[in-house]
Amino acid sequence: MKVLALNSSARVGDVSKTEIMLDHLVQGMREAGAEVEVINLHKKKIRYCSGCFTCWTKTPGICIHQDDMTKEIYPKYLECDLSVLATPLYHFTVNALMKTFIERTLPIAQPFLVKRNGVTSHPLRHQFPLTVVLSVAGFPEESVFDQLRSYIHFLFQGRLVAEIYRTSAEMLGQKTTDKGISDILKATVQGGRELVESKKISPETLDRIKKPFTHFEKFTSLGNLAWQTCIDEGVTMGEFQKRGMIPRPNSIETFLAVMQVGFNPEKAGDAKMTMQYNFSGQVEGRCYFSFENGKFTAGAGQIANPDLTVETPFEVWMDILTRKADGAQMLMEGKYTVSGQTDLLLNMNQFFGE
Ligand SMILES: Cc1cc2nc3c(=O)[nH]c(=O)nc-3n(C[C@H](O)[C@H](O)[C@H](O)COP(=O)(O)O)c2cc1C
Repeated sequence: MKVLALNSSARVGDVSKTEIMLDHLVQGMREAGAEVEVINLHKKKIRYCSGCFTCWTKTPGICIHQDDMTKEIYPKYLECDLSVLATPLYHFTVNALMKTFIERTLPIAQPFLVKRNGVTSHPLRHQFPLTVVLSVAGFPEESVFDQLRSYIHFLFQGRLVAEIYRTSAEMLGQKTTDKGISDILKATVQGGRELVESKKISPETLDRIKKPFTHFEKFTSLGNLAWQTCIDEGVTMGEFQKRGMIPRPNSIETFLAVMQVGFNPEKAGDAKMTMQYNFSGQVEGRCYFSFENGKFTAGAGQIANPDLTVETPFEVWMDILTRKADGAQMLMEGKYTVSGQTDLLLNMNQFFGE
């Protein structure tokens, strides 16, 4: 089976959730023996359809634009047994590049108007290849794909073999050992295999691919913190991620969530620690975290017999956490105090971060 996969995402690599999903689908297709070519539409020159209808009259079936679409992509599209159209969901439908590609398939049709089952249409010069649509969205509700689904059904009726719609897709980029994410990706590989073997994806596999994340709300609150930090610091999200910046917590809850996400069980190994925070200033209150054998727990209030207690204005500690201030310097200046096994404080980097 010859497969042509067209990716219209503007992003590349691990930040592109379209690419992450497509890579796994393609992996499964190749494992099942398909010959798959992936084309990143962003790397190609594809002009807008100019609506001249030359492809219907003077040069039937051939577009007037001599670009990558005419010379490379369209011929490959007509030749393949199966096409995968992979697009991020932009404003609730395919993105502009995918739409541009779709419009440029106009030479596939002939100009005449005919009625089929009571509906006016154009006879086709060639059959559309069998089509798989893959799309990813930021929002968590499945209904965000309603418009895209309806459009795709209308366009590829009779040729559509599978639709893969992944909500909350930004979560797929998390560097975590999260089982939910790895199962979604495994299921996507499985979906690729099934497509080659039976030209469809079983409902069970699709359910696994689409499975909602249980901790989306936590991800949202951390995501919102990260966006706010980007705004405050005047950096893009790409720069934020590249620099390994830390979202600045604005409450005890978000502080503990950031600590939990930052905790690295591999680095911590079998280390054990209990830490108490007594915050004053912008945010007042007590909280703690502890870890043992790679398991992290945290909560509001006071924990009995902590190894270390920090008394600090909230904003001072957040400056240290987000590396705006140096912890040792702040301690020397008396901006906060510690009691207990103070040497643990120096070793904190051993347990958190990459
Ligand atoms: C211009 C633009 C429009 C978007 N519109 C939507 C939308 O309507 N619904 C949604 O759930 N996500 C929307 N998103 C979020 C993207 O679908 C999401 O970030 C996705 O992961 C992008 O794909 P990529 O990672 O391959 O770039 C939009 C993003 C952008 C940049």
